[in-house]
Amino acid sequence: MADLREALDALLADVPPARLTESVRRLIEDYRSGRPADEPLIRTMVDATAYAAYRMPATHAAVLAALGQLPPIAPASQVDLGGGTGAAVWAARELFGAIEATVLDQVPEALKLGERIAKDQGIGWQQWRLGEPVPAADLVTVSYVLTELDDTAQRELVAGAAAAARQAVVLIEPGTPPGYRRMLAARDQLIAAGWHVAAPCPHQLACGMTGKDWCHFAARVNRSALHRRLKDASLGYEDEKYTFVAALRTPENAPGRIVRHPAFRKGLVTLQVCQQDTSVGPTLVSKREGPRYKAARDAAWGDPWPPHAADAQV
Ligand SMILES: C[S@@+](CC[C@H](N)C(=O)[O-])C[C@H]1O[C@@H](n2cnc3c(N)ncnc32)[C@H](O)[C@@H]1O
Repeated sequence: MADLREALDALLADVPPARLTESVRRLIEDYRSGRPADEPLIRTMVDATAYAAYRMPATHAAVLAALGQLPPIAPASQVDLGGGTGAAVWAARELFGAIEATVLDQVPEALKLGERIAKDQGIGWQQWRLGEPVPAADLVTVSYVLTELDDTAQRELVAGAAAAARQAVVLIEPGTPPGYRRMLAARDQLIAAGWHVAAPCPHQLACGMTGKDWCHFAARVNRSALHRRLKDASLGYEDEKYTFVAALRTPENAPGRIVRHPAFRKGLVTLQVCQQDTSVGPTLVSKREGPRYKAARDAAWGDPWPPHAADAQV
């Protein structure tokens, strides 16, 4: 990630700050509206640069966190659909090394910028519009794209990703109630197509979150000085809320998942855990439980629980 930040900072030195700020403002408004886009939201090179500056560190952090929840896999290739400036490819490279990667997107300026940021990492950048064929790859990623599409186009994109992926499909969306609803629909579609959900859900059944709750997680993003300035923010970090589904061709025994920040009281940790039986509720761990308590104290929102799937009594 240090490399990505350095690459972004170097790039931004070339663009007048006022134009970037104006473009960031417009993009924030467009993304917040939550409406499917009738035309590309990134329209110019300045937009692409603004997107890379203010969003890419966060989408990169969310994809990295989601990919990090997959059981051990070793993909040799990746296709990133609607990949924009390539955040998901940077994330996959951090976990899986310099695998063969192709970023597909409708906006040539985003691809051009992504290529400039990544320099000579041997990544392919191709203009592509939903509906066109998707090349096969071991891992297919789709991050923060469904949010721009209507229901029919979302189904088409998920079907294309599922048909092209050999090992794993990972979809990431904003961690909002609408993002969660889109993710649930995509999850159903993947399961119906014969895929096995490996994370975050510990089962293939209907989601057990009810009422006003929605399944989402948070990834910490350290803000550079420029990032802070562009977002008019004072804190040195932000927490990117995201939701995701990671599915594998072959079934895996998926662990339970901690779906909220753990609560600590003297000698007691309360974890909200999504369980294999689809229940979502509190698991209490007291100091008397020794190693289990220590594991609970170290556990974080988004982690598997128990921490080691094989450790049945933890
Ligand atoms: C919010 S950006 C996400 C970019 C990148 N995946 C990330 O996580 O940072 C959404 C991307 O989806 C692309 N996109 C939206 N609709 C598309 C379509 N119909 N065909 C191809 N790309 C599309 C946009 O051009 C844009 O780059």
